[in-house]
Amino acid sequence: MRWAVLVGGTGSNLRALLSEDVPVALVVSHRSGVGAIAIAEEFGVPVEVLTKREYPDRHDFDRELRQTLNRYDIDAIAMAGFLRWLTKETVDAFRGRIINIHPSLLPAFPGLHAIEQAYRYGVRWTGVTVHFVDEGQDTGPIIAQVPVRVDPGTSLGELETAIHKVEHDLYPKVVAALEQHWVWLAEDGTIKWQVPPEEVRSWIDGLYLV
Ligand code: GAR
Repeated sequence: MRWAVLVGGTGSNLRALLSEDVPVALVVSHRSGVGAIAIAEEFGVPVEVLTKREYPDRHDFDRELRQTLNRYDIDAIAMAGFLRWLTKETVDAFRGRIINIHPSLLPAFPGLHAIEQAYRYGVRWTGVTVHFVDEGQDTGPIIAQVPVRVDPGTSLGELETAIHKVEHDLYPKVVAALEQHWVWLAEDGTIKWQVPPEEVRSWIDGLYLV
């Protein structure tokens, strides 16, 4: 599978994917000058930058995005800090082949600054979600979730560090599972696994008790 990683921030999840040898054929950033671009360059991966300024209309942006993905013959997409909302046309073109990582236990705390939202709310548990992308924002069938405990006295910075550590462990594992067809999105919109639940559980073993 030829993966595109869609980014817009520091690129720590992109680095995690590249470090695990995910075949990333393209990085698309919606912002110029971000850390993720430097990481792509460090690993010799081509980068395309599509900004809101160039394409203020969502549909124009996405049309250009789809053309770019086609030009690089992309099969699957991993969103990692890409903060633009994809249109139905793009989701339909790649349905079941687009995943997103989000730093909370969705459906709690979607949107921006999810770690801080959860922290300020005072939750005792939060975590990380990887899901197939649909037309909504941080919605779509959930593939994997890993909880992270928020002990009394934990600082926001400590929680951010713990969440990012889980993200960097989990995302490459989910990509590997998709590559090996262990998991897929069925026609009826549900998630199907072809490995037994115990194996799925041990597959992300060690991440449960962070
Ligand atoms: C990650 O924490 C990711 O979960 C989050 O953006 C960060 C990107 O960091 N995504 C969202 O909040 C999506 N709604 P990175 O650039 O270091 O990978």
